[in-house]
Amino acid sequence: MPCSRRMNRPRLAPRRPCRNMRSPRVPEDTLPENTLQDTSEDAAFGPVTPFYDTLMAGVPYRFWMDYLEKVWKKHGQTPKTVLDLACGTGTVSRYLAGRGYAPTGVDLSAGMLEVARQRAAEEQLPIPFIQQDAADLDLGDARFDAAICFFDSLNYILEPERLCSAFARVCAHLAPGGSFFFDINTEYALAEGMFNQSCTRKGEALHYRWRSRYDPDLRLCTVRMNFSFDDGSGVRRAFTEVHRQRAYGKDDLTGWLRAAGFADVTVYDAYSTDPPKKRSDRLFYFAVKPTD
Ligand SMILES: C[S@@+](CC[C@H](N)C(=O)[O-])C[C@H]1O[C@@H](n2cnc3c(N)ncnc32)[C@H](O)[C@@H]1O
Repeated sequence: MPCSRRMNRPRLAPRRPCRNMRSPRVPEDTLPENTLQDTSEDAAFGPVTPFYDTLMAGVPYRFWMDYLEKVWKKHGQTPKTVLDLACGTGTVSRYLAGRGYAPTGVDLSAGMLEVARQRAAEEQLPIPFIQQDAADLDLGDARFDAAICFFDSLNYILEPERLCSAFARVCAHLAPGGSFFFDINTEYALAEGMFNQSCTRKGEALHYRWRSRYDPDLRLCTVRMNFSFDDGSGVRRAFTEVHRQRAYGKDDLTGWLRAAGFADVTVYDAYSTDPPKKRSDRLFYFAVKPTD
């Protein structure tokens, strides 16, 4: 990714602003001519779901998988069954299946799951995709060797109690000795406005312009995401999603993981096994359920 200090900077997640991806000629909130604006504002992962994989085209999922396996190995984990929490369109699940694991995907968004099921069917991968809220996760007797939750999905849980509940529900669904590995956008990332970005390049199927505002008292980042696309008849259609992410601190998360039943908790600066830095914009948490 050219405008990132890290090759793994995602779309639909904060990244450092990149001048050449902005459109200085188009004033904020002004749509190009011939654009039909849907006046409603949708919640996250609504109308954008058919475009999600296009937005993610530059995301190095294979590199993420290598990182995941490296961390599992470092912690002596050899999982077979993996819960992919907040699986979205199931890309990580499909990679897991391709590497011989047995994933199960869970997500809140019906639209994301619809795409996930379609993609898995196209690749003839028998991956179960289940619609549930992570905070109320209930998969019956299922016990997984490992759980993962990638791409700042847990920042979307805005109430600490709900996040604690998600930790407890994941722990309940792990086999003894099983692990939970997830990433979180740091407060630094949310406060620094890394969600402010846009792409209005000619030739791109989807144009977007995102503006974020961080409330340090509520630790809440609100991002208005304006999108527009060519509907095939030369008319551009526009829609808006509002994404909200909450910042969670390392001490809180570590304490809540322990309270939820996890024993060892290790925190890494993203995509490394280094400890967090002052300016880490993404942290990974590795937590293990005790064997007894
Ligand atoms: C940025 S996407 C990441 C998707 C996927 N993990 C990936 O790496 O592409 C965030 C996902 O979190 C899901 N999500 C948000 N809140 C959730 C919740 N409470 N329970 C389950 N999924 C949730 C959204 O529906 C969305 O699919």
